[in-house]
Amino acid sequence: MSDTVRKPIIGGNWKMHKTVTEARSLALQTKHALVNVADRIEVVVCPPFGALGAVGEVLKGSKIFLGGQNCHWEEKGAFTGEISAPMLRDLGCRYCIVGHSERRHKFGEPDEWVCRKAHALHLHGLAPIVCIGETLEERESGTTKDVVRGQILGSLKDVSTEQMLKTVIAYEPVWAIGTGKTATPDEAQEVHAFIRNILIDVYGLEVALRIRIQYGGSVKPESMVELMAQPDIDGALVGGASLEASSFAKIVSFDTGGES
Ligand code: PGA
Repeated sequence: MSDTVRKPIIGGNWKMHKTVTEARSLALQTKHALVNVADRIEVVVCPPFGALGAVGEVLKGSKIFLGGQNCHWEEKGAFTGEISAPMLRDLGCRYCIVGHSERRHKFGEPDEWVCRKAHALHLHGLAPIVCIGETLEERESGTTKDVVRGQILGSLKDVSTEQMLKTVIAYEPVWAIGTGKTATPDEAQEVHAFIRNILIDVYGLEVALRIRIQYGGSVKPESMVELMAQPDIDGALVGGASLEASSFAKIVSFDTGGES
């Protein structure tokens, strides 16, 4: 991350972990652990839907943003099991993850849905964190760049410049998620630079240089400094290590050696 125009953004994706009581406690610990870092780094936590209200209450008065993990593109209706962008907004969310690889691969979400969700979020004043990334098979067959290009163009179709500036992209190689296998900083940077080049083609250099691209996949406190030293890595989307306030706080305060 070399460009000061881009404020680093670090997200905690709690996935389907934590009851309301547990989530409240983790939110409280996270808030205390991060009391001094939030000005130089943007922090978002994304608890499961059932805990959004409780976590939102705990985070009131802090600079940590709340985010959803998924949403539907319709505002309301007969969509059992879904939640809409205005509902997330009402719960105090500022961000929402869309197109996470678990949604894409375990629930069969295509780019077209991810795109509709991103538009719905923008319409209701939330910023999407759009996830993309190749599987191990795709990486080994040498198609990483084609996959990533297809996902970006398909997931961000007709997103305006103004909307794009609020959008965050998370590059998460599927083979690195929850596996303990992080992409090396060089491997990650290569794809991040490729993503930025696509953004330059579509939105022009000036805009592309302002768009934040997070890395995700087994991010740990130890890997953060090197990842963040890469010119096109602007933050992280953290799963497992965000479930402990102490490890998440170390990741967020990577630039001060873990001191917040
Ligand atoms: P992980 O998850 O940090 O546990 O690999 C990252 C993610 O899925 O966003």
